[in-house]
Amino acid sequence: MTCETLTAEDAAALLLTWYDRHHRDLPWRVSPPMARQGVVADPYHVWLSEVMLQQTTVQAVKAYFDKFLRLWPTVEDLAAADSEDVMKAWAGLGYYARARNLRKCAEAVAREHGGRFPDTEEGLKALPGVGAYTAAAIAAIAFNRRSAVLDGNVERVISRLYAVETPLPAAKAGMRQLVSRLTPADRPGDFAQAMMDLGATICTPKRPACTLCPFHMKCMALHSADPETFPIKAAKKEKPVRLGAAFVAIDNADAVYLRKRPDTGLLGGMTEVPGTDWSARRDGETSVDARPFAAPWEPCGTIAHVFTHFELRLSVYRANVAEALPAAGGWWEPIATLNMQALPTVMKKAIAQAIPHAFKPG
Ligand code: ADE
Repeated sequence: MTCETLTAEDAAALLLTWYDRHHRDLPWRVSPPMARQGVVADPYHVWLSEVMLQQTTVQAVKAYFDKFLRLWPTVEDLAAADSEDVMKAWAGLGYYARARNLRKCAEAVAREHGGRFPDTEEGLKALPGVGAYTAAAIAAIAFNRRSAVLDGNVERVISRLYAVETPLPAAKAGMRQLVSRLTPADRPGDFAQAMMDLGATICTPKRPACTLCPFHMKCMALHSADPETFPIKAAKKEKPVRLGAAFVAIDNADAVYLRKRPDTGLLGGMTEVPGTDWSARRDGETSVDARPFAAPWEPCGTIAHVFTHFELRLSVYRANVAEALPAAGGWWEPIATLNMQALPTVMKKAIAQAIPHAFKPG
C-alpha cells in the first residue's frame, strides 16, 4: 500500500466527517457540532476551558469548568468575583498564575470590551494571560476564524501525518505552517477540535489505533516507519531537586495551622502550612527557624511533588498541640473545611502525610 498525497481539501473532508460521528461531548462545546448552521460555543466558555486545559487533562478540567460556571455564569460575574474565592475554586488545578490572570482577563473583557471577547487573534492576544495558542483556539472555536491551532495532541497528529524528523520543540514553527495549510475556511473551529480529539482518542502516544484513523491512507509515519516514534523529541534535561521542610500542627479540636503565601512568586496567594523555603541545600538546615512556634515536632516522612522547573522533596513534621496557639500571620482551620481553602496539591500532600484522614470524606 502506498501513502496517498494529502490535499487540504481531503484533510478537512476526512477529518470533519470523522468528527461529526466521533467527537467527544465536552461541557464547553456545542454538541453535536453545529458550526455549519452558524452555531458556535460561547466565547466565555471557550476561553475558560482553554485556560483550564493548559497543562491539565480534559478529565480533570470537566468538574472545575462546571463549578466555575455555577459560581460565575458570565464573564461579568467572574470579573466581579473576590480573588480569594477564585483561588479557592481553582485549588488543585495547578499552575496558579492562570487563576490570577483569569480574573484580570475577565475584568479587562468586562470593563474594556463591554463584556464581549474580542473576535480576532490579535485582539484576544492583548488580554491578560491569553497567549498565542489560547488566542488561536478561541478565535477558531468561538469566532470561526481560520486560525492555526497547535497543542500537544495536534503536534502528535501532524508529526505522524508528515513523518516530521525535526525534534520538538524546534519543529513547532514548521508544524504550525502545516496546520495552517490544512485548516479550512469552513468550520475551522471544528477542524481544530477534531485534530485534538483525534490525538486524544486515536493518534495516542502509545499504541495508536491507526486502522480507525480517517488519515490512515495518508499518514506518512504509518507507511514509512513506526508511528509511535513520532513526535521526535529533543532529550529532556533532568529536573533539579529542591528540598525543604513543612510543619503541620494540629490542635485538639482537629484544626490545622495554615497561612497565606506571599502574593507574588510560585503558588502566589495560595494557602500553605508553614515551612522552610525550598532550595538545593540539605533539608533541615533551616527547619528550626521555620517552625511557626515551639511544639513537640515529630518527623513523619517525606513527600515529593513535581513542578515545571524542579522536583520538590519535603520533609514533613507534625505536632499535636493542646489548644490553638496564638501565632502571628496564620489561622487554625478545621480539618472538615480544609477542602474549601486555596490549598495547592503539594500542600494537600504534606497535610495528608501528617494527618492521613485529612481529605478523606466523612
Ligand atoms: N484541549 C485543549 N483544548 C481542547 C478542546 N477545545 N477540546 C478538547 N481538548 C482540548
